[in-house]
This record gives sequence, C-alpha cells and structure tokens, in this order.
Amino acid sequence: MTLDLPVTEAAKVTVPDAQTVTSVTRWTDSLFSFRVTRPASLRFRSGEFVMIGLPGDNGKPLLRAYSIASPNWDDELEFYSIIVPDGPLTSRLQHIKPGDQIILRPKPVGTLVLDALLPGKRLWFLATGTGIAPFASLMRDPDTYERYEQVIMMHTCRTGEELVYGAELVNNLRHDPLLGELFGEDFASRLKYYPTTTREPSPFMGRITDNLTSGKVLSDLGLLPISPETDRAMICGSLAFNVDVKAVLEGFGLHEGANSEPREFVVEKAFVGEGV
Ligand SMILES: Cc1cc2nc3c(=O)[nH]c(=O)nc-3n(C[C@H](O)[C@H](O)[C@H](O)COP(=O)(O)OP(=O)(O)OC[C@H]3O[C@@H](n4cnc5c(N)ncnc54)[C@H](O)[C@@H]3O)c2cc1C
Ligand SMILES: NC(=O)c1ccc[n+]([C@@H]2O[C@H](COP(=O)([O-])OP(=O)(O)OC[C@H]3O[C@@H](n4cnc5c(N)ncnc54)[C@H](OP(=O)(O)O)[C@@H]3O)[C@@H](O)[C@H]2O)c1
Repeated sequence: MTLDLPVTEAAKVTVPDAQTVTSVTRWTDSLFSFRVTRPASLRFRSGEFVMIGLPGDNGKPLLRAYSIASPNWDDELEFYSIIVPDGPLTSRLQHIKPGDQIILRPKPVGTLVLDALLPGKRLWFLATGTGIAPFASLMRDPDTYERYEQVIMMHTCRTGEELVYGAELVNNLRHDPLLGELFGEDFASRLKYYPTTTREPSPFMGRITDNLTSGKVLSDLGLLPISPETDRAMICGSLAFNVDVKAVLEGFGLHEGANSEPREFVVEKAFVGEGV
C-alpha cells in the first residue's frame, strides 16, 4: 500500500509501507491508542515492536519504535501512545483520525517474547506507563496461558487515569469469548492484575520495585514467594525502572535471558529517554 499525502500544488507524493487508521481512542491528555490495518504479510510474535511514523517535513519518514499492543491473531494492529508535547513524532501523531495513513515498517523485533523465557509456572509482567503495550498483546494471546499457569500483571503509573487503558483491557479480557471458552470461571485466577499509582491515592499504591521487595504484592494477591524454579518475568519501563527491577529479580535468584538464550526474565525499554 502507498501513503497518499495531502495534495498541494506540488505533485502527489507516495510513500511505501502505508497503513490506514481504523480507530483512535483518547485516554488522557497525554495518552491515546489507535488501530490500523494489518499488512497481509505481517507475522509477529506477541510482545514485539515495529517502527511506525509519518512522513517528515523533509520528505523522509519520521519513524519511532512502537510495541504492537494487539495479539498476533488480531486482524488489525493496535498501538498505545504517549503524547510528548514537543516530540517530533507524537506532537503530530496525536492528531491522526480514522481514514488517515501512517507508515509501518513490517519488520517486528524485540526481546519480550515467550520464546526468550524458560518454561515455568508463573509469569510476571512488570510495566510502567506505556510499557504496558507489549503486555496488552501478550495478555490477549492464548499461548501465554497455555505456557504458564498464572500471569501477574503489575502496572504502575503516577496517576489513576494513566491506568485506565490497562484496566479496561483486563476487564474486557475477563469476558473475552476466546479466553473465556478456554479457561471459563478459572480465568480470574489465571490472570492477576495489580495496578498501582505513585503520585495520587488509589486502592493499591507504590512502585513495583518496593511492592516486590517488601512482599506487599504477594500478600495482597495471596501468592507464594518468587523463586527461580517457578517464576518468569518480563520488564518494560524507563531505563531507571528496568535497571532497578532487574536488580530486584536478580535478588530473587532469577537471571536475564534473550531470544538466543532463554532464562528466567527479559527486559525492554518502553522508550529511549534523554541522555540514553
Ligand atoms: C523498543 C521501544 C518500544 C517503544 N514502544 C512504545 C509504545 O508502545 N508506545 C509509546 O508511546 N512509545 C513507545 N516507545 C517510544 C517511542 O519510540 C517514541 O519515543 C515516542 O513515540 C515519542 O516520540 P517523539 O518523536 O514524539 O519524541 P522522542 O524524541 O522520541 O522522545 C522525546 C522524549 O519523550 C520521552 N518519551 C518518549 N516516549 C515516551 C514514552 N512512551 N513514555 C514516557 N516518556 C516518553 C523521553 O524522555 C524522550 O527523550 C518505544 C521505544 C522503544 C525503544
Ligand atoms: N510532569 C508530569 O506531570 C509528567 C507526567 C508524566 C510524565 N512526565 C515525564 O515523562 C517522562 C516519562 O514519564 P512516565 O511517567 O512514563 O515515567 P516515569 O517518570 O518513569 O514514571 C512512571 C512510573 O514509574 C515509577 N518509577 C519511575 N522510576 C522508577 C524506578 N526506578 N523504579 C521503580 N519505579 C519507578 C514512577 O514512580 P514515582 O512517581 O515514584 O517516580 C511512576 O509511577 C519522564 O521524563 C517524566 O518526567 C512528566
């Protein structure tokens, strides 16, 4: 497919790898999600990311890494995005609407894939902010629950409104016909959701690092201690978050793995921060 840009006096420009926006949902002033058509040839593993973007002012594509938030069986692709006020891409991407086109380079990659982990009993998804995006894909993939008896989704944001995308997704999942048929009444115990805030009151509070080291998440959810025999984890947040959670998991005896060498946990940055 090619991308049709607005026709000016100049000739109409076309760009390869265009996909059409099918829906847009605004969650907060700085968070939105959107769905686009999926190229027929695009295969990916739930949890991977692709490069997406818009044509730049200089005519070159302005691309950024984005986790695919939809599972690999979905007909469309979903993305969950921050709006950085002066961000080169998101200051413009925030204005997309159904029928518009974006660029999508169909080369999925990433470390947050089930194949990069050893088999185990429990799988922890540990995310801050938009770092929930790869887990929005993995939580909706039946393969996740076929490989692990229990999934625990810990998501931490500064405020309650930043948690709503994940909360709605988990709530819809509990009534999902596909997973409902596979796991029935059991599904509530197969997927445990533990959302916390750090800058305003909510039912559960605190940083993921603190709630893991203090054992609060275990007592709140009635879970056994974390051990390398039973537990696997995936981490997605800022660089500082990733570094700190990695140290916590290593303290429990877990080791970092990769596609080429599956171990007990894997890590990926949710974004590249300043100075990184
Ligand atoms: C592997 C990978 C996967 C990513 N997946 C997603 C995703 O699913 N959704 C998403 O919104 N972004 C994601 N990002 C970040 C994304 O690539 C862009 O940085 C983001 O869209 C902002 O683009 P920009 O051009 O507007 O600003 P940029 O110039 O890219 O960023 C400006 C600054 O904004 C901050 N920032 C950027 N992205 C975020 C973010 N997501 N959360 C908090 N602060 C941020 C950082 O401080 C950064 O230095 C991912 C990044 C990587 C490396
Ligand atoms: N000014 C604002 O209101 C505002 C709002 C959103 C984002 N931003 C900026 O946007 C960027 C990204 O923001 P973000 O909210 O996505 O990410 P963030 O600043 O990394 O915070 C996201 C969540 O992760 C927690 N966290 C941060 N570092 C951690 C660590 N090392 N270990 C454990 N938990 C950690 C935060 O807790 P704490 O609250 O305890 O730090 C917060 O709940 C930052 O540069 C931020 O300054 C600013």
